[in-house]
Amino acid sequence: MRKTIRAAFALLIALSACQPAIARNANEPLLGTPNGLAPTPPMGWNSWNKFGCNINEKVIRAEADAMVSSGMRDAGYRYIVIDDCWQGARDKNGNIQPDPKRFPSGIKALADYVHAKGLKFGIYSDAGTKTCAGRPGSRGHEYQDAQTYAAWGVDYLKYDWCNTDTQDATASYLTMSRALQATGRPIVFSLCEWGKSKPWLWAQNIGNLWRTTDDIYDHWEGRSPDGYHLSMLEILDLQAGLDTYAGPGHWNDPDMLEVGNGGMTDSEYKAHFSLWAILAAPLIAGNDLSTMSDETRTILTNREVIAVDQDPLGIEAKRVAKAGNYEVWARPIKGGGRAVVLLNRSTEPHDITVTWDALQYPDDLKAAVRDLWLHKDLPARQGAFTANVQGHSVVMVTIKP
Ligand code: GLA
Repeated sequence: MRKTIRAAFALLIALSACQPAIARNANEPLLGTPNGLAPTPPMGWNSWNKFGCNINEKVIRAEADAMVSSGMRDAGYRYIVIDDCWQGARDKNGNIQPDPKRFPSGIKALADYVHAKGLKFGIYSDAGTKTCAGRPGSRGHEYQDAQTYAAWGVDYLKYDWCNTDTQDATASYLTMSRALQATGRPIVFSLCEWGKSKPWLWAQNIGNLWRTTDDIYDHWEGRSPDGYHLSMLEILDLQAGLDTYAGPGHWNDPDMLEVGNGGMTDSEYKAHFSLWAILAAPLIAGNDLSTMSDETRTILTNREVIAVDQDPLGIEAKRVAKAGNYEVWARPIKGGGRAVVLLNRSTEPHDITVTWDALQYPDDLKAAVRDLWLHKDLPARQGAFTANVQGHSVVMVTIKP
């Protein structure tokens, strides 16, 4: 008998030594199980860049209305995401409640409204004790919050990283990933950890997209006065070399779009949109859709550029050439073609060339060229394509053998 007890004890010790660091419930999916969502980069709208904390249910409804009436839904945008500041307090059972002044009808009613428009609904929380704006975070309430979101009809969760103290990023995001999967509802999981612990190395099967940098700043270049926010070109530079980590279901997220928010010219916004599309970035508009100009709408709904972003191969662009202020970014697209952005960072117009060599095409290959902003086929080329690119702007083409 003693022998049996000792053997059983030894077996227990041996078994516990084999336990993974994070225990798994047999009913839950395996660690690292992809959720099958976001086969192409998510497209939608988020409240933060334009409204910050000045949100309420009227604003969100108006944005959902505008997503439909502007033609953005038909161009592929789907998710209406409420960022920080929707939360009120937790009730006595720990259930998160919406801010009663801003969202008096409740989140479920808002999600229903969004769904009735043929759109999907997203929400925001934080892995720490509090969100970045000081609202209750999900720490210690992950499974409870996930159940609440699922009951409300949430389709997308952006999960931030403020007030996380000494928390481990992988474990924290894995916990919420599991909690979301345990609800049985398909919920796109957006990691907002700002690239601090290189989520591209570990988040592939934990979430569908991960922020690669600190927050964007509605500016062409340079740093924000507070030193924290990154301009569009600063963010672009930090994407170089990350392309191999992205693919269907798991995307690098260089932060939400600033198109239409007023800090850049329309030609700079065209460049911003083209670059995000060639990077296979999530296209999450961050402007006021209900008051946007025709120029902004035209940029955000350029279907030829969107098609590059949404290309089913899901291959993110590389910077294939750089000479001072002149750059070429390129990615393979379905059917053997390439999408190419010629970027002029200087203020003056300049000729920029992409060689077939940079695209890994043989020199003598004849290829069709189409300008995605002029919506025009250009004469076929062999060996290289050159365009005169305006200052602070891009030319974006597809090149197809
Ligand atoms: C962080 C995120 C932003 C936004 C704010 C909200 O800064 O990176 O995208 O969600 O928090 O407080």
